[in-house]
Amino acid sequence: MEQLLIEQGDITQLEVDCIVNAANRSLLGGGGVDGAIHRAAGPELLAECRTLHGCQTGEAKLTRGYNLKARYVIHTVGPIYAGTPQDARLLASCYRNSLELAREHHICSIAFPAISTGVYGYPIEEAAPIAVNTVGAWLEEHPDCPIAVVMCCFSRRAFTLYRGAADALHQTQKGPE
Ligand code: APR
Repeated sequence: MEQLLIEQGDITQLEVDCIVNAANRSLLGGGGVDGAIHRAAGPELLAECRTLHGCQTGEAKLTRGYNLKARYVIHTVGPIYAGTPQDARLLASCYRNSLELAREHHICSIAFPAISTGVYGYPIEEAAPIAVNTVGAWLEEHPDCPIAVVMCCFSRRAFTLYRGAADALHQTQKGPE
């Protein structure tokens, strides 16, 4: 079964168990995909987020999805791009910690946005392989966890870059011809 899919679209419309929000450390909403998810979920999402008392960069916290099609939202805080090795480590942690949380809650399908590639300035050419390779490695390390992962790209350019990273990953997983 293809466990890692790359799609283009609006993450708030996806019919998956869980969508991931690219939040900020306050977890009190913002612009970009954070704003879109809060608008689609309704005010109860913010009310629940208030009870979480924020989230550290690289960490992830779960709430219900309220008016979203998705039953859950996992809020994770990506790094603000600084051009240091820490950026990649923190970005990878967002994907890994979100997948761990999904596994704990027996979530069977999850969609990620391109975390940190908007307001937080992470160059998407760098972020795409980090996202895809981190998810691919986690899925390989957890064969017992049949979770389907969608990378939901908002722009055509993001979709092309994520597809390229996924194709490169499949090549390495298949090994030499
Ligand atoms: N569906 C899917 N992806 C989306 C959507 C959407 N509806 N809206 C935006 N995106 C994409 C952007 O195009 C970008 O590729 O999500 C990616 C992440 O961009 P941002 O939302 O700006 O998130 P990020 O770069 O992680 O910055 C987080 O921005 O919105 C604030 O509160 C948020 O302070 C936090 C910061």
